[in-house]
Amino acid sequence: MKILTGNSNKNLSSKISKYLKNKLVNSSIRKFSDGEIYIEINENIRGNSIFIIQGISSPANDNLMELLLCIDALKRSSAKNITAVIPYFGYARQDRKVVPRTSISAKLVSNLITKAGADRIVTVDLHAGQIQGFFDIPVDNLFSTPIFARHIKRKIKSKNLICVAPDVGGVERTRALGRKLDVGLAIIDKRRPAPGKSQVMNVIGNVKGKTCIITDDIIDSGGTIVNAADALIKRGAKEVYVYVTHGVLSGEAVEKIKKSKIKNLVVTDTIDNSDKVKKSRNIEVLSISNLLAEAMRRISNSTSVSDLFK
Ligand code: R5P
Repeated sequence: MKILTGNSNKNLSSKISKYLKNKLVNSSIRKFSDGEIYIEINENIRGNSIFIIQGISSPANDNLMELLLCIDALKRSSAKNITAVIPYFGYARQDRKVVPRTSISAKLVSNLITKAGADRIVTVDLHAGQIQGFFDIPVDNLFSTPIFARHIKRKIKSKNLICVAPDVGGVERTRALGRKLDVGLAIIDKRRPAPGKSQVMNVIGNVKGKTCIITDDIIDSGGTIVNAADALIKRGAKEVYVYVTHGVLSGEAVEKIKKSKIKNLVVTDTIDNSDKVKKSRNIEVLSISNLLAEAMRRISNSTSVSDLFK
């Protein structure tokens, strides 16, 4: 087993490498002056099982291209098999045609990764579980729920908790967290009047006097979560905590969260946002590195990955 890292999240890769006591493959990833990416693997990997760690976070196009070129370089260097570890699977939000004449980027990206030569995918909290079916190779979709549940049990003392899905698409994920915490579920009826804009239509469930835990896969502009927190407080919720796997945090998101009614937002490090959230008083980052590393070890040893979530 060998581990190669791309440039998208070197902090996460080095934590994984430390956990597995396995040094990162010596490689050079450079850019030509026109921006084209150039990859060179500086050690023999013939016959090795290789894990390439590279997320599709911003700059998504560069990071995706880097992932594809790394897989191509590994294939051409006679790696025995290639596992693409994609902590944040970008381009996943377009997983069907919501309106006519749009692309399905999740399918195109899946095709590209497979065609480049990946034999297996490891990722975390796919936007929609069914994206696994866009691949004809095995996909291990890991969940941050156990990490969040442990943190909530340790940090939030309220006995009057409720888990809240910020939209209908997040119900399954929220129910899983609710089950782990043994608490009930509320659902927000969210509409998107225009791309990037969100609007709360209704809250299904009674949140009055409760400590609300909103959970989601992605926080991008922050609109969904901030509007959801406002709606909950308006309906009498006592306080709102938020747990989101992928902290995309684009534009003014960090500032928006700082000024919001959210008591604390927890994200994982599937995306390296350490600089953005450094000065934020109500954003905390939990590492997903041990979970990813353990999954990689189990894949390498052909033992169960799903046991990690029992
Ligand atoms: C949408 O279905 C996703 O699960 C997230 O709720 C969404 O991507 C968050 O985006 P934003 O923070 O820009 O509202």
